Amino acid sequence: MSDFVSNMSDNVNSGDNVNTAEVVLSCKDLHKSFIQGGVELKILTGVNLEVKAGETVSITGSSGSGKSTLLHLLAGLDRVTRGEILIKGSNLTALSDNQICKIRNQNLGFIYQFHHLLPEFTALENVLMPIMIYKKVDVATKNHAIELLARMGLNNRASHFPGQLSGGERQRVAIARAVVNNPLLVFADEPTGNLDNYTSNKVLDIFFELQQELKTSLIIVTHDTEVAAKTNSHYRLHNGMVREY
Ligand SMILES: Nc1ncnc2c1ncn2[C@@H]1O[C@H](COP(=O)(O)OP(=O)(O)OP(=O)(O)O)[C@@H](O)[C@H]1O
Ligand SMILES: [Mg+2]
Repeated sequence: MSDFVSNMSDNVNSGDNVNTAEVVLSCKDLHKSFIQGGVELKILTGVNLEVKAGETVSITGSSGSGKSTLLHLLAGLDRVTRGEILIKGSNLTALSDNQICKIRNQNLGFIYQFHHLLPEFTALENVLMPIMIYKKVDVATKNHAIELLARMGLNNRASHFPGQLSGGERQRVAIARAVVNNPLLVFADEPTGNLDNYTSNKVLDIFFELQQELKTSLIIVTHDTEVAAKTNSHYRLHNGMVREY
């Protein structure tokens, strides 16, 4: 393990035994409805979930079952209709948008299906974005991001713009961005859903390797049973609720 990775690991549970680790995220009786044309669409109807330090969790479910909706709620990107979300003891549902933003920037990473990189910023600047949002980037932080890009096999791509990178390379930049803050928890919403099989496997291998080294908790949404099989816990979202299998 490099010094860089071991430094990043200092903040997190060693994760040797996920069962006895502390709970980093829990949600209770989570409900989410959307109102469309005056009609209430009930998407989540009582989701209960617990994720421990270093634990990896997969969520599968048919298209439209509410997987992205759930991930967005858990990551504080959207507001619940009813229920409670605790991240390291802080109740997201009781916090202001600014407070949630702070928790998100300092504790959480999010990988979208379609990378969501900012086209006018370089790969390095995109990786640094979660830090640039709330503080000035110092040399050590910049080096940390460069090392992380190298870890993702992108050492000669730091100054490239997203438009100059392949799909797999962009997704690797997005993964580096999601872990640059040494987050407690990373959310990944079908992170390789739009990549070919070969590239998808390569990107996922690096991703899971990094997750193992950093002992970051992970919630990954996937359609792929092989990807789901790589995680410690497996949930299926159906009829607005999750069930472990
Ligand atoms: N902002 C919104 N307003 C109204 N309806 C919405 C909104 N966001 C999501 N929905 C609806 O909620 C349902 C769940 O959507 P969601 O994107 O969470 O599904 P998903 O399980 O992630 O599907 P997929 O596998 O296709 O990505 C869908 O029927 C969708 O149309
Ligand atoms: Mg989705």
